[in-house]
Amino acid sequence: MSKRIAVLLSGRGSNFQSILSASQSGTLGGDIALVVSNRPGAGGLDIARDAGIETALIDHQAYSTREAFDADLAGALESQSLDLIVLAGFMRILTPEFVSRFAGRLMNIHPSLLPLYPGLHTHQRALDAGDVHAGATVHYVTGELDGGPPVLQARVTVEPDDDVDSLAARVLQLEHQIYPQAIAWHLSDRLQFTAGRLTLDGIALPSTGQQWESE
Ligand code: GRF
Repeated sequence: MSKRIAVLLSGRGSNFQSILSASQSGTLGGDIALVVSNRPGAGGLDIARDAGIETALIDHQAYSTREAFDADLAGALESQSLDLIVLAGFMRILTPEFVSRFAGRLMNIHPSLLPLYPGLHTHQRALDAGDVHAGATVHYVTGELDGGPPVLQARVTVEPDDDVDSLAARVLQLEHQIYPQAIAWHLSDRLQFTAGRLTLDGIALPSTGQQWESE
């Protein structure tokens, strides 16, 4: 049976688009069964509809508590038979109950070289710190914000004339390469994340994940 994933997003959906392209070309090793957005105007919903993928809008503004929102979100996901749930620009913090329910089947992409800069404004923080490198990290989600074990990390060199937009654009190009790769590893069972230990093909990954070689 083919593998099935759901994508959770809040915005334009360029990472979702890259995952969709990988799915369509066969390199992902799975199908996108469902796209969920917490925002009605998310561009990613339009991409999904155009591709004929089932969508769900679960508007967080209609909920008075995070727990109630997460319960409905979990219900929508449980109604599918999913091998993986990927967060692709999903701008909601998930409750510990939600995270533990889907433990080991929940991935995120974060635009920094984790463990540097969890949270928001990552590129600005890298520029402010005078960092030589910036980048992005795919990681499994745990209860700690952007703190789960890294799977795959890509870095770019920060150029002297970089601003947030130029840096974000270069990092985003790499996000579009590493996220489908990490998902493909998961779907082909090459990744194992059990008892807090993460391996690729049976070999423990470094604490910053596998390094993506592209430069
Ligand atoms: C990306 O930079 C991703 O790393 C972060 O949110 C952004 C989403 O962009 N989590 P897009 O919606 O995939 O274009």
